[in-house]
Amino acid sequence: MHTRLIKIDPEHPDMALIDEAAQVIRAGGTVAFPTETVYGLGANGLDGHAVCKIFKAKGRPSDNPLILHIATLNELRPLVRDLSAQADKLIRLFWPGPLTLVLPRSKQVPDEVTGGLDTVAVRMPDHIVAQLLIAKAGVPIAAPSANRSGRPSPTCAAAVWEDLHGKIDLLIDGGSGGIGVESTVLDVTKDIPVLLRPGGITLEELRDTLGEIAFDSSLALESAVPKAPGMKYTHYAPRARVILIEGEQPLSPKILQTFVDAERQKGTQVGALLTEEMASLVRADVVHTMGSARQPLSIAARLFGALRDFDNTQVEVIFAEGISEEGIGLAIMNRLRKAAGCNVIKV
Ligand code: TXA
Ligand code: MG
Repeated sequence: MHTRLIKIDPEHPDMALIDEAAQVIRAGGTVAFPTETVYGLGANGLDGHAVCKIFKAKGRPSDNPLILHIATLNELRPLVRDLSAQADKLIRLFWPGPLTLVLPRSKQVPDEVTGGLDTVAVRMPDHIVAQLLIAKAGVPIAAPSANRSGRPSPTCAAAVWEDLHGKIDLLIDGGSGGIGVESTVLDVTKDIPVLLRPGGITLEELRDTLGEIAFDSSLALESAVPKAPGMKYTHYAPRARVILIEGEQPLSPKILQTFVDAERQKGTQVGALLTEEMASLVRADVVHTMGSARQPLSIAARLFGALRDFDNTQVEVIFAEGISEEGIGLAIMNRLRKAAGCNVIKV
């Protein structure tokens, strides 16, 4: 399959190009597009056949449901059976924005989107290109992150191209500059909402709005039965093995250095993924900085790109420095734990 690449400047979106992309969606094709979190791989969310193409392109297990992206509130009603007062409050406060709500689904939503679940995940992205595309297409757009399944989510068009060219119809390059981690996924079908995936809207913000928020057990590392189906698969993994070092903040550079040195003594090429504060204090074969510990938003923006950058090096093992779980730090640590799989060392 030939993948077309077009550039749309979010500052001055070219409506003729938006129209072309919307036409691909309406015709049942696949379009990768920028959002305010990461790039998504979209298809007509009301067309089960089109949605299947997303799973195929990504190599994604078909039981892992997708988020429906909408541009206006009018599009929400037909997709859900019921909208609780809690959901309504969150929508008014956080949409458009990086909050995905899991809601009771209506019959309109194809099984291919929900993996057969009785719920559907919906969000309204806060990105002009995404909004125009959805509005022009005239249908909700089903879209997971636009990476090959298991790889770090793409924060720029080049990362999408690397993973998916030849497998999708169109890629819209809308630049980078998103939050860098995906949306928060919150199940609001329960009396006490359940956090399924930490993301762009923080747990603190949700608690300020709703009071009590329950944690899905899959967010605890030990658990084996995740609620967000996507959380059970290996995620965000570069080619090298990632080992996450977690502990009370700030971590000691000496301890990090000890782990790096022990691995290097075996003749292994070792990488380190460090905060700016730590980067000058620890030596490894390749050091990538992921932003300042004092500005965790800078880490969110850099995280997936930094993980991908290791693929252009010879490192076989990457030690990643754990950070504070405050604010967006919870989402960052969740992605680092997923990238590390079971390889987490508590110091
Ligand atoms: O920021 C984002 O959310 C990006 C952009 C493209 O919008 N999308 C994204 O989609 O991260 P994806 O498919 O990579 O992650 C969606 C997560 C998965 O863990 C999936 O299992 C979960 O949401 N999910 C989707 N529908 C669900 C449902 N009905 N119940 C529970 N979890 C659901
Ligand atoms: Mg994803």
